[in-house]
Amino acid sequence: MINPELSKKIIDENIKVHTFEAKVYRQIHPEVYNWYQQLLIRKDLKKIFDLNHYQTVLDVGCGTGNITLKLLRHRPAIDAVDLSQEMLEVLRIELQKVRREKDVRFFKMEIEAFIQDCKKKYDLITMSSVLHHFPDYLRVLQKLCSLLNPRGILYVTHEPCGQYHLLREKGLLKKLLKKIDEELYDLFYHKRIRKISAYYKNLPVRDCSYSDYHYFQGFQEEQVKQELLRSGLKIIQYHPFCSELNFGLSNLFDTIFLKTQSHFQIIAQK
Ligand SMILES: C[S@@+](CC[C@H](N)C(=O)[O-])C[C@H]1O[C@@H](n2cnc3c(N)ncnc32)[C@H](O)[C@@H]1O
Repeated sequence: MINPELSKKIIDENIKVHTFEAKVYRQIHPEVYNWYQQLLIRKDLKKIFDLNHYQTVLDVGCGTGNITLKLLRHRPAIDAVDLSQEMLEVLRIELQKVRREKDVRFFKMEIEAFIQDCKKKYDLITMSSVLHHFPDYLRVLQKLCSLLNPRGILYVTHEPCGQYHLLREKGLLKKLLKKIDEELYDLFYHKRIRKISAYYKNLPVRDCSYSDYHYFQGFQEEQVKQELLRSGLKIIQYHPFCSELNFGLSNLFDTIFLKTQSHFQIIAQK
């Protein structure tokens, strides 16, 4: 149970961090935007829409649209909620570029306030890299499950696996792979990195210890699964993978051969 003061601090820090990350979000998060991670999300969405043509979707903590933009090709009605005006603004511009801004309704709101006001039910609720940012993520999860239509789908991805980062392995092969990953990233994205450093020079130091509170405190992955089962959902897919390297190829190698499980994905059905 998180006390109200800490809860407010986590929310305030999320606004602060995402306000100044928004413009360069994709560039500074290669661990999310490399081709392997992007492929995983596309494959998951295809699998979900192969089950049924879901009509109403809620993308929680949509940010700059990592999931929202990929949903467009499946043509559902999309509601996108996020507490950062700046992140939503980047998404709005991306939608304008593809002339699809009318297909998404924006809600600039804290998730619990959104749920409290919400009169609608959804066929699909999606979340990428979001749960661990919420002060009480199990309570949010429980409430989101109640917003699902019967047989609706909850898709959660890119959440940290349990205590993974606290127990990080230190094997030789792992260290070597990390070094190669850094070199590759530098080689291919040198220009991009320089641009970002220039942008960051004028910004305050980025401290994510409160915005990513549960990442640093140890995310309760097992309790997430238990909460879904308690809410009457059936887990139809669970997939742990590596998302701690910057380059797609090294993430794939790490997932398959070193079996690193830093993050996970869940598809559950009501
Ligand atoms: C790590 S980003 C992920 C964004 C996007 N889903 C993606 O995959 O790139 C987390 C997002 O959640 C939003 N967020 C954090 N706490 C929130 C809260 N309590 N209510 C609503 N949105 C929140 C942030 O503003 C941010 O855009």
